[in-house]
Amino acid sequence: MRRKLAAGNWKMNGLAADLAELDAMKPAAATRQTDVLICTPATLISRAAEAVSGSAIAIGGQDCHVNASGAHTGDISAAMLADSGAGYVITGHSERRVDHGETDAVIAAKSEAGYANDLIAVICIGESLEEREGGQTLDVVGTQLKNSTPDAATGANTVIAYEPVWAIGTGKVPTLEQIAEVHDFIRAKLVERFGEDGNAFRVLYGGSVKPSNAQDIFAVSNVDGALVGGASLKASDFNAIIEAL
Ligand code: G3H
Repeated sequence: MRRKLAAGNWKMNGLAADLAELDAMKPAAATRQTDVLICTPATLISRAAEAVSGSAIAIGGQDCHVNASGAHTGDISAAMLADSGAGYVITGHSERRVDHGETDAVIAAKSEAGYANDLIAVICIGESLEEREGGQTLDVVGTQLKNSTPDAATGANTVIAYEPVWAIGTGKVPTLEQIAEVHDFIRAKLVERFGEDGNAFRVLYGGSVKPSNAQDIFAVSNVDGALVGGASLKASDFNAIIEAL
């Protein structure tokens, strides 16, 4: 059985005062047989890790550099994330793919940098609206999955997040049938490539998940949880999502 995962991505949001939200998430996280993860901005990781110490909440980074160290002003290595108390790192979020031109190969290398530092990589894939409307969804998702996921990926060190770009922050969500189609496809590809261990990878859905739609989405075949943006910023929303898992 795969353990479900409720993952929050705070993106470029969160100041020290917002760490109080983590405190308010502890009771919900403690009562569920699920994993709970919040990926804070890098500036908050150390304090967030301290704030959740001893609770069921894990802390993650939102990106890492492919290299361990060096002359890369403004970048953060996987070793730095781990040293700050992170247990996970998001790689290949569509906002990084678009804003920073990250390719599948770079994302695979970042995920490997995560593994080298005992971080679980949450590798994001998903089609644009144009690709969805052009009937290319499975081709795009299949190619991103194949090329962004390193050969060293396992069900223990990697989580896949399917995030249709057009559903992120828009309030638009694919139909449950569309989500099932892509998640079943991802599962089949993981099993084809990794054998039985392909069944151990958690596959999250992301894109406008809210308390009002979480339960329906979590009931879909091969949906093992969610990667949540906006609705992870406030404990009142995120607790309801944790409780729907
Ligand atoms: O990483 C999270 C996703 O981009 C989803 O964001 O829940 O605000 O749509 P959202």
